[in-house]
Amino acid sequence: ASDKLTDRFGRKLTYMRISVTDRCNFRCVYCMPADGLPFAPREELLSYEEITELVEVFAAQGVRRVRITGGEPLVRAELPRLVAMLKEVDGIDKVAMTTNAFLLKKYAQPLEDAGLDSVNISLDTLDPARFKEITRVGSLERVLEGIEAARQADFSSIKLNAVIVGGFNDDEMPALVRFAMERDLIMRFIEFMPIGDTVWAEGKGDCVPARTMRETLSEHWTLEADTERYGTGPARYWRLHGADTPDEGHPFGIISAVTECFCAACNRVRLTSVGGLRACLADDQEVDLREPLRTVDDPQRRREVVEHRIQMALFGKKERHAFDIDGGSVTNKQMTSIGG
Ligand code: GTP
Ligand code: 5AD
Ligand code: SF4
Repeated sequence: ASDKLTDRFGRKLTYMRISVTDRCNFRCVYCMPADGLPFAPREELLSYEEITELVEVFAAQGVRRVRITGGEPLVRAELPRLVAMLKEVDGIDKVAMTTNAFLLKKYAQPLEDAGLDSVNISLDTLDPARFKEITRVGSLERVLEGIEAARQADFSSIKLNAVIVGGFNDDEMPALVRFAMERDLIMRFIEFMPIGDTVWAEGKGDCVPARTMRETLSEHWTLEADTERYGTGPARYWRLHGADTPDEGHPFGIISAVTECFCAACNRVRLTSVGGLRACLADDQEVDLREPLRTVDDPQRRREVVEHRIQMALFGKKERHAFDIDGGSVTNKQMTSIGG
């Protein structure tokens, strides 16, 4: 029963990103408009029980890994409880989370205790004033404390994410690499994707191509392609070699969504906080999985309806996104309500 989740292009879907809330305690310029957004009313959010029921269906069909996203996932109450529930699901090997780390000091250890395997943490700059500029409301100090707390907890992997926005933080790539290297963490640089009403739409920040990123780093280190993968996502990894690296080099990753499309290897679907199944990040078509959960009483019948709807979403999964490095947003939704 485990290859039911194969799309029309032969891609096997084994990975699910689950957004647990569309709220965020930051308002990053690359992720949402300056005024923020109206949030979904609480009763529209899937409960942890509903999320787990859906994950059971997906796992029975071949999903092996789950990543918890937001908005900011830690603004949702009792997140460790969800982690523990998902870890119990038959077939789920790994549960990960992507967070801005603002609340991680408090939650790192409880999450690890609940079974969370790994965390990806957003860190776009090491300069406090610039951090305020990019996140609009965030605090670098709190985030650095969160990163430390994650290092103290025994996660099997911690990676750092920086969305590189031209004119905002493209000059900080070497400093971010050094920060990660000193802590034995893996830095990843992300191309700014044209999703939602962000500074991109205002013409204020632009996408720095992966190639330019590699050229920038080549000024400081020698780059060697790394065959190891440090996650299940679309990042490609390199090893840096130089005077300040260990002998075997130090890895970093690039997520080149815009200029070096990786859709042919796509292995994922997304579940929104209100129960929409989104087959592609860059396609606003969603199939409602919440409705059967809340309207079909018979568990067997409910499962069949959910399975049927999953197939519908899968059938609609596009071959690739249609990002254009010069273009406007390809979605009506903001990144924060999709979960990245
Ligand atoms: P691992 O590799 O398993 O650690 O996870 P990941 O890199 O997929 O997850 P993370 O939440 O850290 O995402 C990093 C960046 O990759 C974010 O900007 C995401 O929006 C982007 N991303 C993740 N999956 C996809 C995808 O399927 N398509 C596109 N275009 N971008 C993605
Ligand atoms: N382009 C690329 N990555 C983005 N993220 C948020 N908005 C964008 C965007 N427009 C990233 C966050 C986080 C992940 C979930 O998505 O920085 O690392
Ligand atoms: Fe998959 Fe869509 Fe991301 Fe491409 S943009 S990798 S098809 S989710």
